[in-house]
Amino acid sequence: MVFQGLPLVEVPVRRARLRVDNGGLGGSAMDQSVPTGLELTVFDAVFRERPHERFDALRAAEPVHEDKVLNRLVLTRAVDIAALLKDRSLSVDPSKSAPGSFSAVMLPDVAASPDKSILFLDDPDHRRLRGLVSKAFNARSIDSLRPHIAAIADALLDALAGRGEFDLIADYCSPLPIIVIAEILGVDTADRADFRRWSQGSAQAFSPVKSPETIALLEANRQGLEAYFSRVIAERRAAPRDDLISAMIAAETDGDRMTTREIVVMCNLLLIAGNLTTTDLIGNAVLALLRNPDQLAKLRARPALMPAAVEETLRLDPPVTDTVRTPLCPMRIDGVEVPAGGSVDALLMAGGLDPALHADPLRFDIERADKTHFAFGGGLHFCLGAPLAKAEAEIALERLLARFPRLALAGRPVARNITPSFNGVEALWVTP
Ligand code: HEM
Repeated sequence: MVFQGLPLVEVPVRRARLRVDNGGLGGSAMDQSVPTGLELTVFDAVFRERPHERFDALRAAEPVHEDKVLNRLVLTRAVDIAALLKDRSLSVDPSKSAPGSFSAVMLPDVAASPDKSILFLDDPDHRRLRGLVSKAFNARSIDSLRPHIAAIADALLDALAGRGEFDLIADYCSPLPIIVIAEILGVDTADRADFRRWSQGSAQAFSPVKSPETIALLEANRQGLEAYFSRVIAERRAAPRDDLISAMIAAETDGDRMTTREIVVMCNLLLIAGNLTTTDLIGNAVLALLRNPDQLAKLRARPALMPAAVEETLRLDPPVTDTVRTPLCPMRIDGVEVPAGGSVDALLMAGGLDPALHADPLRFDIERADKTHFAFGGGLHFCLGAPLAKAEAEIALERLLARFPRLALAGRPVARNITPSFNGVEALWVTP
Protein backbone atom coordinates (compact mmCIF):
# COMPACT_ATOMS: atom_id res chain seq x y z
CA MET A 1 0.00 0.00 0.00
CA VAL A 2 1.29 3.47 -0.77
CA PHE A 3 -1.15 5.59 1.09
CA GLN A 4 1.37 7.88 2.78
CA GLY A 5 0.51 11.07 0.92
CA LEU A 6 2.22 14.09 2.29
CA PRO A 7 5.60 14.94 0.83
CA LEU A 8 6.90 15.08 4.37
CA VAL A 9 6.05 11.44 4.89
CA GLU A 10 6.73 10.25 1.32
CA VAL A 11 4.85 11.31 -1.75
CA PRO A 12 2.80 9.03 -4.01
CA VAL A 13 2.52 11.81 -6.58
CA ARG A 14 5.15 10.27 -8.84
CA ARG A 15 3.42 6.91 -8.77
CA ALA A 16 0.13 8.38 -9.79
CA ARG A 17 1.70 10.38 -12.58
CA LEU A 18 3.69 7.48 -13.87
CA ARG A 19 0.63 5.33 -14.16
CA VAL A 20 -1.15 8.00 -16.09
CA ASP A 21 1.83 8.60 -18.34
CA ASN A 22 1.99 4.86 -18.99
CA GLY A 23 -1.55 4.74 -20.29
CA GLY A 24 -0.29 3.41 -23.61
CA LEU A 25 1.30 0.41 -21.97
CA GLY A 26 -1.99 -0.42 -20.31
CA GLY A 27 -3.64 -0.19 -23.71
CA SER A 28 -1.40 -2.84 -25.24
CA ALA A 29 -2.09 -5.09 -22.27
CA MET A 30 -5.80 -4.85 -23.02
CA ASP A 31 -5.33 -7.27 -25.92
CA GLN A 32 -4.14 -10.07 -23.68
CA SER A 33 -6.56 -12.51 -22.16
CA VAL A 34 -4.82 -12.36 -18.77
CA PRO A 35 -5.26 -8.86 -17.31
CA THR A 36 -2.03 -7.11 -16.47
CA GLY A 37 -0.38 -3.71 -15.92
CA LEU A 38 -2.83 -0.85 -15.55
CA GLU A 39 -5.75 -3.25 -15.84
CA LEU A 40 -4.80 -4.31 -12.33
CA THR A 41 -4.99 -0.79 -10.94
CA VAL A 42 -7.73 1.74 -10.19
CA PHE A 43 -6.97 3.44 -13.52
CA ASP A 44 -8.91 0.64 -15.16
CA ALA A 45 -12.72 1.00 -15.15
CA VAL A 46 -13.33 -2.74 -14.79
CA PHE A 47 -10.91 -2.94 -11.87
CA ARG A 48 -12.72 -0.05 -10.20
CA GLU A 49 -16.29 -1.12 -10.83
CA ARG A 50 -16.10 -4.93 -10.99
CA PRO A 51 -12.70 -5.88 -9.54
CA HIS A 52 -13.75 -9.51 -9.03
CA GLU A 53 -13.71 -9.98 -12.82
CA ARG A 54 -10.03 -9.11 -12.90
CA PHE A 55 -9.28 -11.25 -9.83
CA ASP A 56 -11.20 -14.29 -11.13
CA ALA A 57 -9.44 -14.09 -14.50
CA LEU A 58 -6.05 -14.00 -12.81
CA ARG A 59 -6.79 -16.75 -10.30
CA ALA A 60 -7.99 -19.00 -13.10
CA ALA A 61 -5.05 -18.37 -15.43
CA GLU A 62 -2.08 -17.14 -13.39
CA PRO A 63 -2.69 -16.84 -9.66
CA VAL A 64 0.94 -15.78 -9.28
CA HIS A 65 1.02 -13.34 -12.16
CA GLU A 66 4.14 -11.78 -13.61
CA ASP A 67 3.11 -8.23 -14.50
CA LYS A 68 5.77 -7.23 -17.01
CA VAL A 69 4.22 -3.80 -17.55
CA LEU A 70 4.56 -2.61 -13.96
CA ASN A 71 7.38 -5.01 -13.06
CA ARG A 72 5.82 -6.85 -10.15
CA LEU A 73 4.40 -10.22 -9.21
CA VAL A 74 0.68 -9.98 -8.47
CA LEU A 75 -1.01 -12.33 -5.99
CA THR A 76 -4.77 -12.95 -5.98
CA ARG A 77 -5.16 -16.20 -4.00
CA ALA A 78 -5.91 -15.86 -0.29
CA VAL A 79 -3.43 -18.59 0.58
CA ASP A 80 -0.54 -16.80 -1.19
CA ILE A 81 -1.52 -13.40 0.22
CA ALA A 82 -1.63 -14.78 3.78
CA ALA A 83 1.79 -16.43 3.36
CA LEU A 84 3.34 -13.26 1.93
CA LEU A 85 2.03 -11.03 4.73
CA LYS A 86 3.26 -13.47 7.36
CA ASP A 87 6.78 -13.76 5.93
CA ARG A 88 9.02 -11.72 8.23
CA SER A 89 12.04 -12.01 5.97
CA LEU A 90 10.45 -9.66 3.40
CA SER A 91 11.13 -5.93 3.24
CA VAL A 92 8.71 -2.98 2.91
CA ASP A 93 11.50 -0.46 2.31
CA PRO A 94 11.53 0.79 -1.32
CA SER A 95 15.22 1.73 -1.01
CA LYS A 96 15.95 -2.02 -0.89
CA SER A 97 14.08 -2.62 -4.16
CA ALA A 98 15.92 -3.42 -7.37
CA PRO A 99 16.16 -0.52 -9.86
CA GLY A 100 13.18 -0.67 -12.22
CA SER A 101 11.03 -2.79 -9.89
CA PHE A 102 7.47 -1.70 -9.13
CA SER A 103 8.37 -0.37 -5.65
CA ALA A 104 11.47 1.49 -6.81
CA VAL A 105 9.71 3.11 -9.77
CA MET A 106 6.54 4.00 -7.90
CA LEU A 107 8.10 5.24 -4.69
CA PRO A 108 11.40 6.96 -5.51
CA ASP A 109 10.70 9.73 -3.02
CA VAL A 110 10.11 7.23 -0.23
CA ALA A 111 13.26 5.36 -1.18
CA ALA A 112 15.33 8.54 -0.97
CA SER A 113 13.69 9.94 2.15
CA PRO A 114 15.64 10.00 5.41
CA ASP A 115 12.30 10.29 7.23
CA LYS A 116 10.47 7.09 6.37
CA SER A 117 7.29 6.30 8.22
CA ILE A 118 6.93 2.89 9.89
CA LEU A 119 4.96 1.71 6.88
CA PHE A 120 8.24 1.70 4.95
CA LEU A 121 10.72 0.69 7.63
CA ASP A 122 12.10 -2.77 8.35
CA ASP A 123 13.39 -4.06 11.66
CA PRO A 124 15.09 -2.97 13.81
CA ASP A 125 13.88 0.59 13.02
CA HIS A 126 10.29 -0.58 12.52
CA ARG A 127 10.21 -2.54 15.77
CA ARG A 128 11.62 0.40 17.73
CA LEU A 129 9.21 3.05 16.38
CA ARG A 130 6.14 0.82 16.23
CA GLY A 131 6.80 -0.20 19.84
CA LEU A 132 6.98 3.42 20.99
CA VAL A 133 3.93 4.62 19.07
CA SER A 134 1.90 1.55 20.05
CA LYS A 135 2.53 2.36 23.69
CA ALA A 136 1.17 5.86 23.17
CA PHE A 137 -1.64 4.84 20.82
CA ASN A 138 -2.91 1.95 22.91
CA ALA A 139 -2.76 3.89 26.15
CA ARG A 140 -6.22 5.31 25.45
CA SER A 141 -8.74 2.52 25.15
CA ILE A 142 -11.01 2.56 22.14
CA ASP A 143 -13.98 2.13 24.49
CA SER A 144 -13.19 5.39 26.22
CA LEU A 145 -13.27 7.15 22.84
CA ARG A 146 -16.68 5.77 21.81
CA PRO A 147 -18.79 8.50 23.47
CA HIS A 148 -16.65 11.20 21.79
CA ILE A 149 -16.98 9.54 18.40
CA ALA A 150 -20.77 9.30 18.86
CA ALA A 151 -20.96 12.99 19.80
CA ILE A 152 -18.96 13.96 16.69
CA ALA A 153 -21.24 11.80 14.51
CA ASP A 154 -24.36 13.34 16.07
CA ALA A 155 -23.12 16.89 15.49
CA LEU A 156 -22.44 16.13 11.82
CA LEU A 157 -25.91 14.59 11.48
CA ASP A 158 -27.51 17.61 13.19
CA ALA A 159 -26.09 19.77 10.41
CA LEU A 160 -27.99 17.67 7.84
CA ALA A 161 -31.38 18.39 9.37
CA GLY A 162 -33.96 19.55 6.85
CA ARG A 163 -31.91 18.61 3.77
CA GLY A 164 -33.85 16.77 1.03
CA GLU A 165 -30.78 14.89 -0.18
CA PHE A 166 -27.11 15.08 0.65
CA ASP A 167 -23.71 13.62 -0.23
CA LEU A 168 -22.89 11.38 2.68
CA ILE A 169 -19.18 11.28 1.79
CA ALA A 170 -18.68 15.06 1.85
CA ASP A 171 -20.91 15.76 4.83
CA TYR A 172 -20.39 12.77 7.08
CA CYS A 173 -17.93 10.00 6.09
CA SER A 174 -15.06 12.41 5.31
CA PRO A 175 -15.22 14.89 8.19
CA LEU A 176 -15.83 12.29 10.90
CA PRO A 177 -12.39 10.56 10.90
CA ILE A 178 -10.60 13.91 10.55
CA ILE A 179 -12.31 15.31 13.62
CA VAL A 180 -11.70 12.07 15.55
CA ILE A 181 -7.96 12.02 14.82
CA ALA A 182 -7.73 15.75 15.60
CA GLU A 183 -9.24 15.03 19.03
CA ILE A 184 -6.94 12.08 19.63
CA LEU A 185 -3.81 13.99 18.64
CA GLY A 186 -4.92 16.94 20.73
CA VAL A 187 -5.47 19.62 18.09
CA ASP A 188 -6.98 22.65 19.81
CA THR A 189 -10.52 23.60 18.82
CA ALA A 190 -9.27 26.97 17.56
CA ASP A 191 -6.95 25.20 15.12
CA ARG A 192 -9.51 22.69 13.86
CA ALA A 193 -10.46 24.65 10.74
CA ASP A 194 -6.82 24.85 9.56
CA PHE A 195 -6.26 21.21 10.47
CA ARG A 196 -9.30 20.07 8.56
CA ARG A 197 -8.32 22.12 5.53
CA TRP A 198 -4.80 20.63 5.51
CA SER A 199 -6.13 17.10 6.05
CA GLN A 200 -8.70 17.31 3.31
CA GLY A 201 -6.25 19.00 0.98
CA SER A 202 -3.73 16.23 1.51
CA ALA A 203 -6.15 13.69 0.01
CA GLN A 204 -5.35 15.44 -3.27
CA ALA A 205 -1.91 13.86 -3.03
CA PHE A 206 -3.46 10.70 -4.46
CA SER A 207 -4.97 12.41 -7.43
CA PRO A 208 -3.62 10.89 -10.64
CA VAL A 209 -3.62 14.22 -12.45
CA LYS A 210 -2.17 17.20 -10.70
CA SER A 211 -2.42 20.72 -11.95
CA PRO A 212 0.25 23.22 -10.84
CA GLU A 213 -2.40 24.62 -8.48
CA THR A 214 -2.88 21.21 -6.86
CA ILE A 215 0.87 20.72 -6.47
CA ALA A 216 1.12 24.17 -4.88
CA LEU A 217 -1.79 23.33 -2.58
CA LEU A 218 -0.12 20.08 -1.50
CA GLU A 219 3.11 21.88 -0.73
CA ALA A 220 1.23 24.50 1.27
CA ASN A 221 -0.53 21.73 3.20
CA ARG A 222 2.75 19.96 3.88
CA GLN A 223 4.33 23.11 5.20
CA GLY A 224 1.23 23.96 7.18
CA LEU A 225 1.09 20.58 8.88
CA GLU A 226 4.82 20.39 9.52
CA ALA A 227 4.91 23.83 11.10
CA TYR A 228 1.75 23.07 13.05
CA PHE A 229 2.93 19.74 14.47
CA SER A 230 6.42 21.09 15.27
CA ARG A 231 4.88 23.95 17.25
CA VAL A 232 2.42 21.70 19.10
CA ILE A 233 5.16 19.19 19.96
CA ALA A 234 7.26 22.01 21.45
CA GLU A 235 4.24 23.22 23.45
CA ARG A 236 3.43 19.72 24.74
CA ARG A 237 7.05 19.15 25.73
CA ALA A 238 6.74 22.22 27.95
CA ALA A 239 3.21 21.45 29.18
CA PRO A 240 1.99 17.88 28.53
CA ARG A 241 -1.72 17.20 28.13
CA ASP A 242 -3.88 14.10 27.92
CA ASP A 243 -3.42 13.64 24.18
CA LEU A 244 -1.57 11.38 21.74
CA ILE A 245 1.17 13.91 20.94
CA SER A 246 2.01 14.20 24.65
CA ALA A 247 1.85 10.40 24.94
CA MET A 248 4.30 10.02 22.01
CA ILE A 249 6.67 12.50 23.69
CA ALA A 250 6.46 10.52 26.94
CA ALA A 251 6.58 7.01 25.43
CA GLU A 252 9.82 5.32 26.39
CA THR A 253 11.42 1.92 25.91
CA ASP A 254 14.65 1.27 27.82
CA GLY A 255 15.41 4.98 27.95
CA ASP A 256 14.74 5.43 24.21
CA ARG A 257 12.20 8.04 23.05
CA MET A 258 10.85 9.42 19.78
CA THR A 259 12.55 12.52 18.38
CA THR A 260 10.49 15.57 17.36
CA ARG A 261 11.05 14.66 13.70
CA GLU A 262 9.84 11.09 14.29
CA ILE A 263 6.71 12.36 16.01
CA VAL A 264 5.98 14.77 13.14
CA VAL A 265 6.35 11.94 10.60
CA MET A 266 4.13 9.71 12.73
CA CYS A 267 1.44 12.40 13.05
CA ASN A 268 1.39 12.72 9.27
CA LEU A 269 1.15 8.96 8.83
CA LEU A 270 -1.72 8.68 11.30
CA LEU A 271 -3.51 11.45 9.47
CA ILE A 272 -3.02 10.00 6.01
CA ALA A 273 -3.34 6.34 6.98
CA GLY A 274 -6.45 6.86 9.00
CA ASN A 275 -8.61 9.38 7.19
CA LEU A 276 -9.25 8.34 3.61
CA THR A 277 -9.40 4.67 4.60
CA THR A 278 -11.99 5.17 7.32
CA THR A 279 -14.03 7.49 5.09
CA ASP A 280 -14.07 4.76 2.44
CA LEU A 281 -15.00 2.07 4.95
CA ILE A 282 -18.03 4.00 6.19
CA GLY A 283 -19.09 4.92 2.65
CA ASN A 284 -18.65 1.36 1.32
CA ALA A 285 -20.63 -0.03 4.26
CA VAL A 286 -23.55 2.38 3.75
CA LEU A 287 -23.57 1.60 0.03
CA ALA A 288 -23.59 -2.18 0.64
CA LEU A 289 -26.44 -1.86 3.16
CA LEU A 290 -28.56 0.38 0.96
CA ARG A 291 -28.05 -1.95 -2.00
CA ASN A 292 -28.98 -4.98 0.12
CA PRO A 293 -32.23 -4.05 1.87
CA ASP A 294 -32.60 -7.53 3.43
CA GLN A 295 -29.26 -7.09 5.19
CA LEU A 296 -30.14 -3.55 6.24
CA ALA A 297 -33.46 -4.74 7.68
CA LYS A 298 -31.65 -7.47 9.58
CA LEU A 299 -29.20 -4.96 10.98
CA ARG A 300 -31.92 -2.51 11.96
CA ALA A 301 -33.76 -5.35 13.77
CA ARG A 302 -30.59 -6.62 15.47
CA PRO A 303 -28.12 -3.77 16.07
CA ALA A 304 -25.74 -6.23 17.75
CA LEU A 305 -24.87 -7.32 14.20
CA MET A 306 -23.10 -3.98 13.59
CA PRO A 307 -19.51 -5.27 14.05
CA ALA A 308 -20.39 -8.13 11.68
CA ALA A 309 -21.69 -5.67 9.06
CA VAL A 310 -18.45 -3.68 9.24
CA GLU A 311 -16.36 -6.85 9.03
CA GLU A 312 -18.32 -8.06 6.00
CA THR A 313 -17.70 -4.70 4.29
CA LEU A 314 -13.98 -5.03 4.97
CA ARG A 315 -14.08 -8.45 3.30
CA LEU A 316 -16.23 -7.57 0.30
CA ASP A 317 -15.30 -3.96 -0.42
CA PRO A 318 -12.09 -3.05 1.46
CA PRO A 319 -10.69 0.52 1.46
CA VAL A 320 -7.12 -0.52 0.54
CA THR A 321 -6.55 -2.57 -2.61
CA ASP A 322 -2.98 -3.84 -2.18
CA THR A 323 0.30 -3.88 -0.32
CA VAL A 324 3.80 -4.64 -1.57
CA ARG A 325 6.67 -6.71 -0.16
CA THR A 326 10.24 -7.10 -1.40
CA PRO A 327 12.31 -10.26 -0.93
CA LEU A 328 15.93 -9.56 -0.03
CA CYS A 329 17.04 -12.97 -1.37
CA PRO A 330 15.63 -14.78 -4.41
CA MET A 331 12.43 -16.68 -3.57
CA ARG A 332 9.81 -18.79 -5.35
CA ILE A 333 6.05 -18.41 -5.03
CA ASP A 334 4.15 -21.37 -6.42
CA GLY A 335 7.06 -22.13 -8.73
CA VAL A 336 7.44 -18.55 -9.97
CA GLU A 337 10.81 -17.01 -9.23
CA VAL A 338 11.16 -13.56 -7.64
CA PRO A 339 14.66 -12.07 -7.74
CA ALA A 340 16.11 -10.28 -4.72
CA GLY A 341 14.72 -6.74 -4.78
CA GLY A 342 11.70 -7.69 -6.92
CA SER A 343 8.22 -6.46 -5.98
CA VAL A 344 5.42 -8.77 -4.90
CA ASP A 345 2.05 -7.04 -4.80
CA ALA A 346 -0.62 -8.74 -2.70
CA LEU A 347 -4.08 -7.70 -3.92
CA LEU A 348 -5.64 -7.61 -0.45
CA MET A 349 -9.02 -7.04 -2.00
CA ALA A 350 -8.74 -10.23 -4.06
CA GLY A 351 -7.94 -12.28 -0.95
CA GLY A 352 -11.33 -11.60 0.68
CA LEU A 353 -13.10 -12.46 -2.57
CA ASP A 354 -11.32 -15.77 -3.16
CA PRO A 355 -13.92 -18.53 -3.71
CA ALA A 356 -11.45 -20.99 -2.17
CA LEU A 357 -11.89 -19.07 1.08
CA HIS A 358 -15.54 -17.98 0.93
CA ALA A 359 -18.55 -19.61 -0.67
CA ASP A 360 -20.52 -17.16 -2.82
CA PRO A 361 -17.87 -14.46 -2.19
CA LEU A 362 -19.73 -11.60 -3.92
CA ARG A 363 -22.78 -11.91 -1.67
CA PHE A 364 -22.97 -9.27 1.09
CA ASP A 365 -23.98 -11.43 4.02
CA ILE A 366 -23.51 -9.87 7.43
CA GLU A 367 -24.18 -13.22 9.11
CA ARG A 368 -21.51 -15.06 7.13
CA ALA A 369 -19.79 -17.25 9.73
CA ASP A 370 -16.23 -16.77 8.43
CA LYS A 371 -15.39 -13.26 7.28
CA THR A 372 -11.62 -13.71 6.95
CA HIS A 373 -10.15 -10.75 5.05
CA PHE A 374 -6.86 -8.94 4.51
CA ALA A 375 -8.17 -5.37 4.60
CA PHE A 376 -5.70 -4.33 7.31
CA GLY A 377 -2.70 -6.12 5.78
CA GLY A 378 -0.89 -8.47 8.11
CA GLY A 379 2.25 -9.60 9.85
CA LEU A 380 4.59 -7.00 11.31
CA HIS A 381 2.84 -4.11 9.54
CA PHE A 382 -0.73 -5.03 10.43
CA CYS A 383 -2.69 -1.77 10.60
CA LEU A 384 -2.11 -0.02 13.91
CA GLY A 385 -5.44 1.78 13.68
CA ALA A 386 -7.68 -1.22 12.92
CA PRO A 387 -9.61 -1.18 16.23
CA LEU A 388 -10.12 2.60 15.95
CA ALA A 389 -11.26 2.39 12.32
CA LYS A 390 -13.76 -0.36 13.15
CA ALA A 391 -15.11 1.54 16.16
CA GLU A 392 -15.54 4.69 14.05
CA ALA A 393 -17.37 2.78 11.32
CA GLU A 394 -19.64 0.98 13.78
CA ILE A 395 -20.59 4.18 15.56
CA ALA A 396 -20.98 6.19 12.35
CA LEU A 397 -23.37 3.58 10.93
CA GLU A 398 -25.28 3.15 14.17
CA ARG A 399 -25.90 6.92 14.57
CA LEU A 400 -26.75 7.36 10.88
CA LEU A 401 -29.30 4.54 10.78
CA ALA A 402 -30.85 5.67 14.06
CA ARG A 403 -31.22 9.24 12.76
CA PHE A 404 -32.68 8.30 9.36
CA PRO A 405 -35.04 5.29 9.56
CA ARG A 406 -35.84 5.59 5.86
CA LEU A 407 -32.36 6.34 4.51
CA ALA A 408 -32.15 5.45 0.79
CA LEU A 409 -29.93 5.99 -2.24
CA ALA A 410 -30.93 9.16 -4.07
CA GLY A 411 -30.67 7.41 -7.44
CA ARG A 412 -27.64 9.31 -8.70
CA PRO A 413 -24.77 7.36 -10.32
CA VAL A 414 -22.20 6.10 -7.83
CA ALA A 415 -18.66 6.55 -9.16
CA ARG A 416 -15.55 5.03 -7.63
CA ASN A 417 -12.55 7.20 -6.77
CA ILE A 418 -9.51 6.97 -9.01
CA THR A 419 -7.03 7.01 -6.17
CA PRO A 420 -4.17 4.51 -6.42
CA SER A 421 -4.35 1.76 -3.81
CA PHE A 422 -7.63 3.06 -2.37
CA ASN A 423 -11.15 1.83 -2.94
CA GLY A 424 -14.10 4.05 -2.17
CA VAL A 425 -16.81 6.13 -3.76
CA GLU A 426 -16.45 9.76 -4.85
CA ALA A 427 -19.87 10.76 -3.61
CA LEU A 428 -22.83 8.96 -2.08
CA TRP A 429 -26.06 10.88 -2.57
CA VAL A 430 -28.81 9.74 -0.24
CA THR A 431 -32.27 10.85 0.86
CA PRO A 432 -33.08 10.91 4.58
C1 HEM B 1 -10.68 1.08 7.49
C2 HEM B 1 -9.65 1.83 7.76
C3 HEM B 1 -8.23 1.37 7.56
C4 HEM B 1 -7.73 0.45 6.68
C5 HEM B 1 -8.48 -0.38 5.66
C6 HEM B 1 -6.30 0.40 6.90
C7 HEM B 1 -5.44 -0.44 6.21
C8 HEM B 1 -4.09 -0.54 6.46
C9 HEM B 1 -3.19 -1.40 5.72
C10 HEM B 1 -3.58 -2.32 4.56
C11 HEM B 1 -1.95 -1.23 6.24
C12 HEM B 1 -0.66 -1.88 5.75
C13 HEM B 1 -0.51 -3.24 6.34
C14 HEM B 1 0.49 -4.10 5.63
O1 HEM B 1 1.19 -3.68 4.69
O2 HEM B 1 0.61 -5.27 6.04
C15 HEM B 1 -2.06 -0.26 7.31
C16 HEM B 1 -1.01 0.19 8.07
C17 HEM B 1 -1.13 1.19 9.01
N1 HEM B 1 -2.29 1.83 9.42
FE1 HEM B 1 -4.16 1.47 8.74
N2 HEM B 1 -5.98 1.28 7.88
C18 HEM B 1 -7.12 1.89 8.33
C19 HEM B 1 -7.24 2.84 9.32
C20 HEM B 1 -6.21 3.31 10.07
C21 HEM B 1 -6.33 4.29 11.15
C22 HEM B 1 -7.66 4.90 11.63
C23 HEM B 1 -5.08 4.52 11.61
C24 HEM B 1 -4.62 5.44 12.70
C25 HEM B 1 -5.19 6.54 13.04
C26 HEM B 1 -4.16 3.68 10.85
C27 HEM B 1 -2.81 3.62 11.04
C28 HEM B 1 -1.96 2.76 10.38
C29 HEM B 1 -0.52 2.74 10.61
C30 HEM B 1 0.27 3.59 11.60
C31 HEM B 1 0.00 1.74 9.76
C32 HEM B 1 1.46 1.33 9.62
C33 HEM B 1 1.70 0.08 10.46
C34 HEM B 1 3.10 -0.47 10.30
O3 HEM B 1 3.71 -0.33 9.24
O4 HEM B 1 3.58 -1.06 11.28
N3 HEM B 1 -4.90 2.97 9.93
N4 HEM B 1 -3.38 0.14 7.42
